[in-house]
Amino acid sequence: EDTERTVLIEAHELAAKFYHYLLNNTQHGKAAKDYLRERGLGDKLIDHYMIGYAPEQWDTLSRFLDNRKFDPALMEKGGLLSAKHDGSGYVDRFRSRIIFPIWDRDGKVTAFAGRIIGDGQPKYLNSPETMLFTKSRTLYNLHHARPAIRKRKQVVIFEGYMDVIRSWSAGVKNGVATMGTALTAEHCQMLGRQADEVLICYDGDDAGQAAAMKSIPMLEAAGMRVMVSMLPKGKDPDEYIAEYGPEAFMREAIDEPVSVTKFKLIYSRKNHILLKEEGRKNYLLEAAGIVAELDSAIEREIYLQELSREFEVPLEVLKQDCLIKHQELQ
Ligand code: CTP
Ligand code: MN
Ligand code: MN
Ligand code: MN
Ligand code: MN
Repeated sequence: EDTERTVLIEAHELAAKFYHYLLNNTQHGKAAKDYLRERGLGDKLIDHYMIGYAPEQWDTLSRFLDNRKFDPALMEKGGLLSAKHDGSGYVDRFRSRIIFPIWDRDGKVTAFAGRIIGDGQPKYLNSPETMLFTKSRTLYNLHHARPAIRKRKQVVIFEGYMDVIRSWSAGVKNGVATMGTALTAEHCQMLGRQADEVLICYDGDDAGQAAAMKSIPMLEAAGMRVMVSMLPKGKDPDEYIAEYGPEAFMREAIDEPVSVTKFKLIYSRKNHILLKEEGRKNYLLEAAGIVAELDSAIEREIYLQELSREFEVPLEVLKQDCLIKHQELQ
């Protein structure tokens, strides 16, 4: 088992370099590279993230591994190859895809994500769960980001690979992403050991906001102060940078996050029709409940003042309701 791990890590490390070489030095790789260029990734970023290309043939990696005497059955177990249906051998798992190596926390390549070039399904094909790779315990870019996370005591969480990479080039050196799955308690514990604060920077769509709502209590339970960066409608961080540039991204998204309370208030607002009295009432009740979660009476007061002004409800009335809800939570 231990030697199997060592061999599989060696195979992944070699495969990553091989795919990276194919991207940079072959005719087929050129189309993939043009695609990456169009998406704003220059050579430096491509090198830093060791991005590669898996050609369309079925046997590119399998022959490479075979020549180096790796056992194909083990390579299949490790997710690099797939067994043929008729049992007559093995083929490459990743074909015609841009390859993003995934590192474990020690900086060893233990899995890959393969993105289709352009449109198509599935958009990303990831390595399966193996003895090297568990999605619920892996955060993309953690090994690159760890020094900056520790130094600043802050981590930024994104949804996607491209968000991490593009933000890195914009100046976010403490960014990580989950692997296409929801944030887990294990992820939160890993981050909680290294950071006091976490900035959620998910996609600016309904799915991203819903995911942020779920992540907030988990991150708080791991002992971190949580802030939320809200991107304009429908944009993810990568798209935001492409459209408005890195400086605007740093200024608007990273340096000006909103508090968890503010984020929850904005989120709750969308579910109520504020033009109707019933909607206003229900929103205010929900808002009082959100504000009631705050420990500090001063902080509660500040949010309630804002609500009082906007909805023309006496502050004392809001305070009464909020205090009752606050005491219920104690
Ligand atoms: N994801 C995945 N498999 C898919 C779609 C998404 O594993 N079929 C994961 C990937 O980790 C992806 C993340 O979920 O980065 C976020 O998905 P999405 O926002 O749809 O993709 P983007 O990261 O924005 O991808 P791109 O910018 O390349 O279009
Ligand atoms: Mn290189
Ligand atoms: Mn998305
Ligand atoms: Mn996205
Ligand atoms: Mn994207």
